[in-house]
Amino acid sequence: MSGTPIETSSLDRILTLEIARVTERAAVAAARLRGRGDEMAADQVAVDAMRQELNRLAIDGTVVIGEGERDEAPMLYIGEEVGTRAGAKLDIALDPLEGTTICAKNLPNSLAVIAFAEKGSLLYAPDVYMEKIAIGPGYPANTVSLDASASENIHAVAAAKGVSVNQVTACILDRPRHARMIEEVRATGAAIRLIGDGDVAGVIHTTDPDETGIDIYLGIGGAPEGVLAAAALRCIGGQMQGRLQLNTEEKVARAAKMGISDPNRVYTMEEMARGDVLFAATGVTDGNLLQGVRFTRNAITTHTIVMRSSSRTVREIKARHQDLTKFD
Ligand code: FBP
Repeated sequence: MSGTPIETSSLDRILTLEIARVTERAAVAAARLRGRGDEMAADQVAVDAMRQELNRLAIDGTVVIGEGERDEAPMLYIGEEVGTRAGAKLDIALDPLEGTTICAKNLPNSLAVIAFAEKGSLLYAPDVYMEKIAIGPGYPANTVSLDASASENIHAVAAAKGVSVNQVTACILDRPRHARMIEEVRATGAAIRLIGDGDVAGVIHTTDPDETGIDIYLGIGGAPEGVLAAAALRCIGGQMQGRLQLNTEEKVARAAKMGISDPNRVYTMEEMARGDVLFAATGVTDGNLLQGVRFTRNAITTHTIVMRSSSRTVREIKARHQDLTKFD
């Protein structure tokens, strides 16, 4: 038998375009408030816009990584059901404005991001910190590990890449909690790109070191952002591990309620985002991989990356929106 293979995943291919509309809308809303110094306002408009667009989609989606727990987030909270309820049952991880502070300061790499996955295939991570390590595609399996030291991981990347250690650059969030790790990485001779915020972008940047100059992402950031980054890497290729930072009894109990029984478990990328995954990110501010939203008198331009794990297709969509009423 020949012909087009039957679509077996519940992620309809048409969603590849629909998912881009969702992040485009959120990015445009947030971009109107770039550089205004108001993180909360920028986040709120992005949330409202993303929710509106999500609810137009013919999906039966449940937010599993969202803006917080039901009682602390008015919209896009964990457990919120979105879409027309007519289509496939999906898990949704989202961050309508990843890098609220960088948007408020109009600095690089704030994004609107979302991932769709088949029901039950994303890690239901509580809103705690996660220790993360990530590298891009093309390395042998298990090149890096959260059980190795930062210095061992840097040396492993250099050896696998066939370069000297001083040609490796690590991306790390600029936080006091990373002081020791930063010292250790610098002592190897490797360079560090310290970022103020936005570690979803930090992880994605490891997938294109020629463009971004980043080979490895290291350090502790948000667990929800960890799941989103794992979803992205599942689509482009690469390696990632995450370990939740469940350092109080309250956090251990909260995680247990979400089905996490081993507080010290190291999750692989595939354990954080299984099955078929669709991921989209639209640039809010200019960044290494995505341009930020541009406003001109007659049009709005957006730059979005959309990728799918089952086909490993990475699409870049530069859209010129001329019907400005839909962004009102
Ligand atoms: P927000 O978009 O919620 O502001 O998150 C930005 C961010 O930098 C994430 O990318 C990162 O995972 C997390 O915050 C780090 O948390 P903290 O600022 O508490 O170190």
